[in-house]
This record gives sequence, C-alpha cells and structure tokens, in this order.
Amino acid sequence: MSETKNESSDIWKKQLDGKMPTDWAKDIDGFETELHLKKQGKIEEKVFAESRLRYGAYGQRYDNGLRHDGKSQQKIPFPCGTMTKGPNTVWDAPGMERIKLPYGGMTPEQMDVLADLAEEYSDAICHVTTRQDIQLHYVHIEDTPSLFRRLAAVGITTKEACGNSVRNVTACPLAGVCHDQSFDVTPYADALFRYFLGHPDIQDFGRKFKIAFSGCSDHPCGLTSMHDMGAVAKTKVVNGKTIRGFEYYVGGGLGAVPQLAKLFDEFVPEEELMPLTQALFRIFARYGEKKNRNRARVKFLVRDWGIDKFREEVLKERALLKPDPRWNEFLKTLNHLDEKPAKEAGVRPAADASTPFGQWVKSNVYAQAQKGYNVVTVYLPLGDLTSNQMRDLASIVRKYTTGTARTTVEQNIVLRWIPDGDLQNLYNDLKKIDLAEPHAATIVDITACPGTDTCKLGTSASRGLAGELMTRLAEQQIIHNEAIRNLRIKVSGCFNSCSQHHIADMGFYGVGRKAGNHVVPHFQLVLGGQMQKNGGANGLAITTIPSKAIPATVTRLANMYLEGRSGDESFKSFIERTGKIAVKNALIDLAQIPSYEENKDYYVDWGNVREFTTSDIGVGECAGEVVSLTDMGLKVADREMFESQVVYEKGDLNKAVVAAYGAMLRAAQALVKSKNIDISENPEEIINEFNKYFCETGIFYDPFMGNQFAKYLFKAQEEGVDNISADRAHQRMEEAQLFIDAAHGCNIRMGMQQQAAQ
Ligand code: HEM
Ligand code: SF4
Repeated sequence: MSETKNESSDIWKKQLDGKMPTDWAKDIDGFETELHLKKQGKIEEKVFAESRLRYGAYGQRYDNGLRHDGKSQQKIPFPCGTMTKGPNTVWDAPGMERIKLPYGGMTPEQMDVLADLAEEYSDAICHVTTRQDIQLHYVHIEDTPSLFRRLAAVGITTKEACGNSVRNVTACPLAGVCHDQSFDVTPYADALFRYFLGHPDIQDFGRKFKIAFSGCSDHPCGLTSMHDMGAVAKTKVVNGKTIRGFEYYVGGGLGAVPQLAKLFDEFVPEEELMPLTQALFRIFARYGEKKNRNRARVKFLVRDWGIDKFREEVLKERALLKPDPRWNEFLKTLNHLDEKPAKEAGVRPAADASTPFGQWVKSNVYAQAQKGYNVVTVYLPLGDLTSNQMRDLASIVRKYTTGTARTTVEQNIVLRWIPDGDLQNLYNDLKKIDLAEPHAATIVDITACPGTDTCKLGTSASRGLAGELMTRLAEQQIIHNEAIRNLRIKVSGCFNSCSQHHIADMGFYGVGRKAGNHVVPHFQLVLGGQMQKNGGANGLAITTIPSKAIPATVTRLANMYLEGRSGDESFKSFIERTGKIAVKNALIDLAQIPSYEENKDYYVDWGNVREFTTSDIGVGECAGEVVSLTDMGLKVADREMFESQVVYEKGDLNKAVVAAYGAMLRAAQALVKSKNIDISENPEEIINEFNKYFCETGIFYDPFMGNQFAKYLFKAQEEGVDNISADRAHQRMEEAQLFIDAAHGCNIRMGMQQQAAQ
C-alpha cells in the first residue's frame, strides 16, 4: 500500500515540508489519504463529498466545455472528454475550488501562487466571488492536495470554504482607510477566522454560517444585514475612556427567502466578540434544523424563536462557557495588520473628466482618510482575471504599496495606499494589462453568479446575460448621467441569490417558462433592494422577462427613472412611489414571448448555441448532505486505522500499535459524540463515557459477538502500548479493526432505530 499515488503531489509535499503551518499540513495529509481511500472504494460517496466540500472542492457543471469570459463564450479544453455537464458528472470530474481569503486580503506572494495554481490546475482564470473568495474551475480532485499545500505554504487555507461550516469571514475592503469607519475591523475579522477555523463547536451545523464585518452602518461595503452574523464597528465612552465594540446582528441571509439580520445587541465590547460568537455557534449547532436543508440556516431558528428568546438562549450559553485564554489574545497585537504607505504622497495630477484617465479617476479612485493616499478599484469584468493579469497585478502591488490588495463583494480587487503622485503611472501600468476600465461601482460593474456556465443549479445564463448587459451599457450615453451611473445590477442564475440580486437596484434571477412545446429562458426582475446601510433592504420580484428582452428592460427602467424621479430621489424610492403594478404594466410588451416561428432566438439563452432546456439542472451541493459528527468521526477513525496499517507494514510495530489504539479511541469518541457532544480527547474520559452510554446500555452489543468488540478497547487500555510482542502487536491491529467495524455497525443500527421511530 503506497501512501500517495500522485508523483507531483509527492514532490510538492517534500518541497513544502516545514513551510506550512503544522496543523494545516496534517489536515491536508489526512484529506489526501481519504482521497486514496475513496479511489479504492473504501469511503462512501456521501461521506467523501462532505470532506471535499469542507476543503472547498465542489462538483461543477460543464456547459459542453463552454465558459463566458465577459466578452464571448470560450471553449474550455478539459481532459475528460466524455464527461458532460448536468447531474451525471462523476465524483472525480474536474470541479470548482473555492479559496478562502479572510476579509479579502492578499499579499503579492499569495497572488503569484494563485496565478500559478490557476494556470497549472485550472483554466488560467482567477474568479473573485461575492464573498471575497477566489475560485478556480475545472480543477482535478487529484491535484487538490498539491493545490492545498502550495496555498498553505503562503498562509492560505481552503478549509471550511464550503460545506456546513463557518465560511469565509468577510469585511469591508475599505477597512482601515475609510473616512466613515469607527475603527479598522481587519484584525477582528482575521482573529475570528483564525480562532474558529476547525473549532469543535462549528463541526455540527445543519448548514453554512456566514459572517461579515463592517466599519460603519451606512455604506454598502460590509453587507452585514444579509449575513448569519454581522458585526458593525462602534465606539462608546465609558468613564471617560473610549472603548471599542460591535453592533451585533444575527439571522440575516439571502437565498430563496431572504431575511434581514436582527439586532442582537447594540454594543458587544471587543473582549466579548469571541465568547459571544462561540455561544451563538453552540446554540445553532444544538437547536438548528439538521434534516431539512431548506430550513437549516440560523435565520430560521431566529425566526421560529423570535430574537428575544434567541438572545436569551445565547446569553445563557455564554454564561456557561469555560473561559478560554485564547479568546482575546489578538487584542494584544491589534495593530499587526496595519498598513503603511510605501512612498511619499506626492502631488495629485489634474484629471480632466473628458479623458480616459479622468474618467477612471472619477469612478475607480477613492481618496483615503489618510491625506494624499488612495484606494484604487481594479474593475474585473464578471469578477475574472487571467493568471497573467494576476501575476502582473502582484508586481504592481509590490511597485506601489508595501504589499496588500483586497478582493471586494462586487467581484473586484482594490489596491490601497496609492500615493497621489503615482496615480497616473499606476493607471498606465494597469492599462498595459487591460485592467484600467473606468467602470468600478457603476451600472456597468455588474455582479453575476456562475450560473449555467458551471453551477449545477443554474437555470438561466447569468454570466451570459451580465456580459451582454455590460457591453451594451458601456456603449450607451445614458450611463454618463450620474443617477443612472450609480445604479447596481446583479444577476443570479437561479433563486439562490449567489450574486446577491436581492440587494441590487435591478436584480435578476433565472427561471424557465414554457411556451408551447418549448422552454424559454427567463429572468425574474427584482426591484427595491438596497446596498446602502450594509445591504439594508431586500427587493421583491416584479415580473418575469425573457432573457433576450432584459437589455431592453434595463434601458427602459433607466429611462423611466430619469424622466420620473423627483429631485434626487433614489431608484428604490422611485420604484416604491411608482408602484409594482405600474412598473409591471410599463414592461408588459417586453414580457411577451414571440412564437417559436416568429423568433427562435428567444428560445436560446445568452452565449449558447443550443436550444434552452432545464432538464440539465443537477443536484446542488452548496453544502453537501448533513453528515453527523459520528459519521465524520468514524471516517477519521478509518483513516487513522489505515495509517496505522501503513506504519505496521513498514515494520514499526510499536508506532503502529499506538496509532491503532488512537483510531479505536477516535471511533469510540465518535459514538459518544451522539450522546455527549462535549466529549474531550482524554482517553480515560472517552472510555468511561463509551462504557456508560454504549456498554452498560447494551447498545454496542453485536448481535452475534455480544460485548466482545468493546472488550478489545478496554484490553488495549489496560495493556498500554509498551513492550508488546510481535504476535500481540498483530492481534492488536486486528482487534482495532474489528472494534472500528463494530462501531460502524452500532452507528448503522442506531440510524435504523431512529428511522423506525419517526
Ligand atoms: C456549485 C455552485 C453553487 C451552488 C450549488 C450554490 C448554492 C447556493 C445556495 C443553495 C444558496 C442559497 C441560499 C442559502 O445560503 O441558504 C447560495 C447562496 C449564496 N451563494 Fe452560492 N452556490 C454556488 C456557487 C456560488 C458561487 C460561485 C458564489 C460566488 C460567486 C456563491 C455565492 C453565494 C452567495 C453570496 C449566496 C447568498 C447569500 C447568503 O445568504 O449568504 N455561490 N448558494
Ligand atoms: S444563484 Fe443559482 S445558478 Fe447562481 S451560483 Fe447560485 S445556485 Fe448557482
């Protein structure tokens, strides 16, 4: 039995040995072993899926090998010729890899590695997501261990990027340099990410959990209102001293039924951030829905209980928590992520708004709170940049700053601390790499989810539509009017709202509509959303429009707004004042579907050549099925047992017996978790609890062998692991395997009993 099968993986493993954080390296080794076991058919599909999702590896869809790059549909060469899109993709078909960037932060060194990985393992495109992650598509599962190691060596993890876990912790990309912030939220977001990564209290969620930080209440960068937990920076004066804390929100979320987060506490002092959040996680894990995925976000628990009961339960839990000295360690080094300018500010050049440079300064440059320095937004069409652009951008970051860039929820990248005197040179450098378009934070800066290009749940081509809208809008005079220019469009391929269409001025999500014997790609029009005030309002669906009529719809709505707005009325207020019915009536002709004979074009989605169908929609695996803590623990026991056998084969008997005993304890602990979630790692405690819950009750008794398998564990504890003969070592290996098999049997029986009781 060889430990690894992939030569390149072996090489990277050796080369990066000692360069990765030890616990991350160990996790990746474990994942690689699971991958081998899966290939040998020794791990169930469902269990492996949960594992890979927790490392950010999604299954994806293939649109016949096509992907829209924002300008046109590109053919993607991927080596698995027979694999098709849709529900029937095989488990090891190339998929999507989500890479977590807490608060969107990236150093040039990390950007170089991201560029290399996109080039070597993906389609040479780095995609910025609406939660500040980077995603790569068409990544082979075989390559993931190397990809993880190369990222870990530069301080990036994909752990808990997907799956039922705490996802990327996002934060306003202006944190630290914004005029309106209470204080810089960066170190808080970073500390929260680090403290909870892999924490035992976040391993038993029924769904994902998303957290966002914002420096202020008013602006649209942090979007705390649409998060499971949102923290808005606040200060207050107590006994003459200014103290820091957070306005703390819970239970927000988009998805099919969006909900704005509820105020949990007006001021949570900074020292309470970690313990309160831990208590919140424990309540969610304990009382949140597990079986029905559609009701498993914390927003449903907040809704069912009401915020008062929810708060009461969390605070009760908080009071019971054993203090952890690591909770507030980060407060001692709060300034370690502070950025400094690389150069003197210099003199800001004149920027005539009629020149391309002037237009770029107007939309893409924000003067920082620190006089003489600027945040520059690098506008990325549809959130994409090529490997070469990423690498060149890394050089630009090195040239002009002391070394950080951040991704944004609008799928762009910002460079901070750009001196006034360097703006012209920076513009010239960005222009050379085709990244100097002047559309940041405008109606042309459209957010789109992956949609039918790569997402199994997509109904309509969100990227195709967004690409088309961008091109057409950029050519229209109307976008030079300030009121129109400031509007935002967001397009999702289905109701799940991955593009965050609910908070856009004009939001769209894909739906199909039948016309005779055909299905026509449509989008629902969602109006009334608001990005300001941290995503302060969710819009509502108004009417469905065929995909091919959406560009005309956007132009008509923009004109209606221009003509009908009173004073500086916002688009949201204008729509509310006009009324849903009037808006719908004004679009009635655009909502009509021409017959197939009249216009076949309506029956083909944007960027596609084939006729539209919804029969290729697959099963989503945004978070995977819920796998219990016991299932997960038993899987780890299997892996540890496998590793002990590898050591045994190599002839190190003592080490093998130690590892096999560890695997038995892991299996016992996994079972105990179903009765006592707080079970520690202490062998004595595990064995006592196992005895109490599983032996004294008879639950562990095998129908044929009675209590025999449990005795193996007790004997192993009695004997210890020293001075064991070769024979006994061999028996111990067998007994350990039998014990773990019996633990699986016990788990299956418990599952069947549970089902019968329902
Ligand atoms: C394989 C592809 C994907 C699947 C199957 C998927 C699935 C889902 C589902 C079911 C939701 C529903 C709502 C919920 O959270 O309860 C959701 C929400 C969301 N997804 Fe995705 N997603 C995919 C890819 C993406 C990508 C690529 C992005 C980023 C560009 C993304 C960003 C989001 C965001 C921002 C939300 C909603 C906001 C929230 O409630 O927090 N998703 N996704
Ligand atoms: S909105 Fe729908 S189509 Fe778009 S990424 Fe999310 S699940 Fe996929």
